[in-house]
Amino acid sequence: MQDRVPLWEAVRDYVHGGPVRLHVPAHQGRALPEELAGEDFLALDVTEVPGLDDLHRPTGPIARAQELTARLFGVPEAYFLVGGSTVGLQALLLAAAGPEEEIVLERSVHRAVWAGLILSGARPVFLPVRWYPQFNIPLPPAPDQVHTALARHPGVRAVLFTHPNYYGVAADVEGLVAAAGDRAVLVDEAHGVHLAFHPELPRPAMAAGAEASVQSTHKLGGALTQGAWLLLRGKYLKGRKTARALDLLQTTSPSYLLMISLDLARKRLALHGRELLARVLGLARETAEEIAKEGPFTVLRDAHLKGTGCRLDGTRLVINVRESGRSGWEVAGLLRSRYNVQVEMADRDNVVAVLGLATRPEDCAALVRGLRGLARETGEGRTEEGMPSLPPVPPLRLLPRAAWLGPRRAVPLREARGEVSADLLAVYPPGVPAVGPGEEFTPEVLEYLEAAVARGLSLHGAADPRCTSVEIVAS
Ligand SMILES: Cc1ncc(COP(=O)(O)O)c(C=O)c1O
Repeated sequence: MQDRVPLWEAVRDYVHGGPVRLHVPAHQGRALPEELAGEDFLALDVTEVPGLDDLHRPTGPIARAQELTARLFGVPEAYFLVGGSTVGLQALLLAAAGPEEEIVLERSVHRAVWAGLILSGARPVFLPVRWYPQFNIPLPPAPDQVHTALARHPGVRAVLFTHPNYYGVAADVEGLVAAAGDRAVLVDEAHGVHLAFHPELPRPAMAAGAEASVQSTHKLGGALTQGAWLLLRGKYLKGRKTARALDLLQTTSPSYLLMISLDLARKRLALHGRELLARVLGLARETAEEIAKEGPFTVLRDAHLKGTGCRLDGTRLVINVRESGRSGWEVAGLLRSRYNVQVEMADRDNVVAVLGLATRPEDCAALVRGLRGLARETGEGRTEEGMPSLPPVPPLRLLPRAAWLGPRRAVPLREARGEVSADLLAVYPPGVPAVGPGEEFTPEVLEYLEAAVARGLSLHGAADPRCTSVEIVAS
């Protein structure tokens, strides 16, 4: 038994199977920075010996690497993150708003932001989700929504949204910054580290005047998984406070391999970002055209988003499969099992492929071949039942922090009506929370959760996936 290494065996088998990797990390197992060619990775796994600096009090090479990162993005400060964007978002919440202080957030924020609310004790003011029904995907918030929320909540400290979202849909950041007025705009740019490096891409958050941005350099910038950075203007959030929050949350044993990969990713983006992204954008465009040539798949394009104020990250392919008679999950599964193509993610209606710095024309050709092969068959797995519509954002009865930390008990879902949720419950897709810690189980929320479970959609956050019981705050 103990001679088995299940995780190693699983990863080894996946990698040795030679899949076409249209998913993050963007180095896709190939685009090793040239500096590392021939290097012994194990030997580079070092720690804070003299001369190698300290992530928590950087004065040497880590400080200089962070300064170069800040300079690249034209901002006063940059902080390396070894716990992904997750830790950066949590730190931003801690730095931006204290207990009871209000912060405006789009409803479909990543769970890391909820963790930040729990850590900080801030009071969320959520903007309802905007939908793009043809693809059944969420859109980033519109400036008008921020105006309306701020008129009702003039004491708000900060506004936070995702840009671009998981579907590559980018927000009208300038409009949102203007709408936020004299408040800190914090941007979850986990999927947007590359935006600054090609003019065809949507405007990056910091260039549009945001106060802070957290970017998963590992997703699209070529760093190793978990490597990310936080960019800070420092007009509203003091650098010391943000650094203190990071000090609290980040490990005392940061991986030098990760930090080296951030330093090297920064150099490559600075020196070659534009040409690399021009290539990826061209490849994505050609692939989208090839997919569109033969039905029944439709690729999301800027033209679809006309009138929404949003723009697309052209390196990402969001492929709507509705007309194929199959679900996105089924298409993604068949691409993998028959064509050895692994995409980034799928939902009921779409498949999302990420093209990264190392994606080759033959990788995209394999995707097109797979889709063409599937197009020739009639799908049989798709359920045509409509998705339940998202319930309105439920009233907040307790701060997320108090609800999460307080006493809790499990009750059958049906008996939760009128109770306060202790957990974050989200149905995938769309991954937007139905109810969060501190929010009320309204009749609409219960109806939505029951409908989602009946349709076999996956539910995150419940003690059991069938959601027979949920955790409520015990009064
Ligand atoms: C929108 C968004 N924000 C934040 C995160 C967290 O980023 P990381 O995985 O780098 O911690 C993710 C990760 O998937 C994400 O999709």
